[in-house]
Amino acid sequence: MPRTPYIAANWKMNKTVAEAAEFVDALLPRIAATQNDVVICPPFTALSEVVQRRYGTAVKVAAQNMHEEESGAFTGEISAPMLVELDVEAVVLGHSERRQFFGETDEALARKVPAALAADLEPILCVGESEAARDGGETEEVLERQLQADLAGVEPTDLARVVIAYEPIWAIGTGRAATPEQAQEACAYIRDVIRLRGGVADDVRVLYGGSVKPASAAELLALPDVDGALVGGAALDPEDFAAIVEAAG
Ligand code: PGA
Repeated sequence: MPRTPYIAANWKMNKTVAEAAEFVDALLPRIAATQNDVVICPPFTALSEVVQRRYGTAVKVAAQNMHEEESGAFTGEISAPMLVELDVEAVVLGHSERRQFFGETDEALARKVPAALAADLEPILCVGESEAARDGGETEEVLERQLQADLAGVEPTDLARVVIAYEPIWAIGTGRAATPEQAQEACAYIRDVIRLRGGVADDVRVLYGGSVKPASAAELLALPDVDGALVGGAALDPEDFAAIVEAAG
């Protein structure tokens, strides 16, 4: 079975409820014919609005983070059951901005990924190296370390339920996307690590993220081991995001 292309819009800390509604209304007619998986990741406050507006379409909704516990004294956090109650289907975990700015650790991710799966939320696990690690020839080492740690609690039979996003930190928000060679090499390596963990690697969707734009999307998305994109800046505009969805074929 070929892997269905997976295109996700990571809005980060952007869009009010009103702006989110406007985006979804502009996007839906533009992607009505697509067979791809299209996922919108709004901030928590706009999740419900996006969920409501996409009912009756194939668009999925993802949160940008969650806590691993179901409930408790964790001020400011949101749990998997809270997301499921809203009809959210997926959750971004381990984005480099959360690792860098909010102290997200591999230990926490090792609990979050299984917690998401247990709640039937599709985890979109982000991994990726810093510029210094790439320059030092440590890209594969970093990817393997993150994958082994973050997926430690996931049974091999469940690995294909995890979507993995390769997001080199130096490419995020810089306008400097990885070259097709770099993206292909890293995504193929990620698939190899999944295979070594005993997962059905050919079923795992591996996305590329980092300065994906309408002009560069087709080339990146045509790569054999790149099954989709996690899009930040270009996903704030419905026309640009629709163009990327279309570029995935
Ligand atoms: P960018 O962000 O497309 O703006 O580089 C990608 C991401 O952080 O997921």
